[in-house]
Amino acid sequence: MQSLTYYVATSIDGKIARPDDSFDFFVNEGEHVTDYLAALKAFDSVIMGRRTYEIGTKVGVTNPYPWLETYVVSRSIEKSPDPNVTVVSEGVADLVRSLKERPGRRIYLCGGGRLAAHLLEHDLVDEIVLKLSPVIAGDGISVVSAMDRPTKLALVDHKVHDNGVVVLRYRVERRSRRPAPTAESGRTPPPKRSS
Ligand SMILES: NC(=O)c1ccc[n+]([C@@H]2O[C@H](COP(=O)([O-])OP(=O)(O)OC[C@H]3O[C@@H](n4cnc5c(N)ncnc54)[C@H](OP(=O)(O)O)[C@@H]3O)[C@@H](O)[C@H]2O)c1
Repeated sequence: MQSLTYYVATSIDGKIARPDDSFDFFVNEGEHVTDYLAALKAFDSVIMGRRTYEIGTKVGVTNPYPWLETYVVSRSIEKSPDPNVTVVSEGVADLVRSLKERPGRRIYLCGGGRLAAHLLEHDLVDEIVLKLSPVIAGDGISVVSAMDRPTKLALVDHKVHDNGVVVLRYRVERRSRRPAPTAESGRTPPPKRSS
């Protein structure tokens, strides 16, 4: 069974790009970049939303990860601009489930926030790796767009880099397995009934 990792650069206010899609405010040099490039070797497929894919196509790049099996999620792209890129318009969750069934390496969720929310809501994201840059974007596109309810994460690893970037690795707790309410969660258990 493969796992799906959302590996993404973010500001401390949880933005992956400015409203105009620019992201030049991230620290883009240093050991965390080398680590990211090495981590990409662990994947054998990548999935991304149409808006993320367009960052490349706007500058003529139609297959940004040529060594990975590439899926772009879109209802508006009629025909893939690249023979090695598959456009998926429906059944995204089913596609990811079937990719996960295959033997092999891991699936890279490249972004963006909208696709991440969809896959999180379907309990299909196993891990989130945040490359947290020491910057406040001020406004922009959220690392995960609006979701129906909170999703708990467990911090499993972290690395603090000299350039101020902190890489945080989280395991996503299954949403289908809702924890029982406890006093710590702030919810008062129902009163005991006397017979
Ligand atoms: N900082 C980073 O590491 C990083 C990484 C990735 C992206 N980004 C940035 O994030 C921004 C894009 O993120 P975003 O959240 O706005 O958009 P996104 O998730 O990349 O793309 C959204 C689009 O994907 C399609 N889509 C998503 N979920 C779908 C579903 N369940 N079924 C069918 N289609 C679906 C739709 O395309 P259609 O409208 O065509 O139907 C939707 O409009 C860009 O600015 C990019 O630069 C940053």
